[in-house]
Amino acid sequence: MNKCDVNDLALFGGTPLFQDALHVGRPNVGDRLRFQARVDAMFDRRWLTNNGPNVVEFERRICEVTGAPHCIAVCNATIGLELVIRAFGLTGEVIVPAFTFVATAHALSWLGVQPVFCDVDPKTHTIDPKSVETMITPRTSAIIGVHTWGRGCDIPTLADLANRRGLKLIYDAAHAFACGTAEGMVGVFGDAEVFSFHATKFLNSFEGGAITTRDPALADRLRRMRNFGFAGLDSVTSTGTNGKMTEISAAMGLTSLESMDTFIDVNRRNHGIYKREISAIDGLSLYEFPDEVRSNYQYVVAEVEPARTGLTRDTIVDLLIAEGVLARRYFYPGIHRMAPYGSGAAAPVSLPVTDALVQRVMQLPTGTAMLERNVTDVCDLLRFICRQSEDILHRMNPERLHCVAS
Ligand SMILES: Cc1ncc(COP(=O)(O)O)c(C=O)c1O
Repeated sequence: MNKCDVNDLALFGGTPLFQDALHVGRPNVGDRLRFQARVDAMFDRRWLTNNGPNVVEFERRICEVTGAPHCIAVCNATIGLELVIRAFGLTGEVIVPAFTFVATAHALSWLGVQPVFCDVDPKTHTIDPKSVETMITPRTSAIIGVHTWGRGCDIPTLADLANRRGLKLIYDAAHAFACGTAEGMVGVFGDAEVFSFHATKFLNSFEGGAITTRDPALADRLRRMRNFGFAGLDSVTSTGTNGKMTEISAAMGLTSLESMDTFIDVNRRNHGIYKREISAIDGLSLYEFPDEVRSNYQYVVAEVEPARTGLTRDTIVDLLIAEGVLARRYFYPGIHRMAPYGSGAAAPVSLPVTDALVQRVMQLPTGTAMLERNVTDVCDLLRFICRQSEDILHRMNPERLHCVAS
């Protein structure tokens, strides 16, 4: 890296380190020829949607990977969550973590169910069962846990809590395809789990999602609800929506599955480099995954401790973005503080762990678009930025950026 002093930083007029920006969530693309062959076969069949053979095969493969007995592929995870919420007839309040992507809460409020926000565990970033327990009221009908960053929730404690309090237990597994827990693979827990195969996920079907469950009756109901409530050609037995996955999405999903091990290997390699390098930078730490369970390593989450780096997370993100490293703050400012949920009459609750994490967490680029040397360059840049923190603070217009020198 050819940066010697603070003036070389792109934010202060230097040349950006990366001419081609490095993105968080840049899609992994599997074997194009395999994909194109599937698309040709799809056109030959002239079967583009409505539970075609690609969708059926994709569902079968998802069952194999997760061990779930039933899988219902859907057009995206948000609709998948909505279908599950509808299928259970949830009403009143549902407890969800505030430290998650906004879709987890939107799926509820879109259907007239009130999301109630609880806190997360500071180490795992997943839903904190103790916080859940304090939020339960007579109006509570369910808990939605989120396997954040692919890390399984505290499944035994949540199962016990839901059981004791007579609540449905749903998992938003959008991040956690092919991830394990001490209790088994994600996909077989709670009353249902919902995966996302959005283009930014490590395994994608352009847009897409899947619901898995052990309950055959629920699977049946979900299949009908996914297709306008049709039980047969002209027999509509329930209300429903259009949540179907298309054949071209399933073709992409199947092709992605064939390269899944490579995607995970690259993510694991990148994560290992980030871990080695970032652990040597004072004030930065990397979110780690336990070695004993499977992970897809699709998220590289660094936490910034401004008292030690001398710079806030936001300043570091601004410096990185100027260099072409499109780091992202995540789940900022917490759903409980987003306009639909935390303003006006609905004063935001105070959730200390979430409130701290949304200030400290940043996501760094990974995936198959990142070369090994890109990862080491990003780490060198981070080290340089942290070493130059005092000069950076001097250079910055204090009004413009969010600097903390304490
Ligand atoms: C935790 C979480 N839940 C739900 C979703 C929504 O998934 P989709 O884009 O497939 O609707 C996402 C998407 O990023 C997510 O990260």
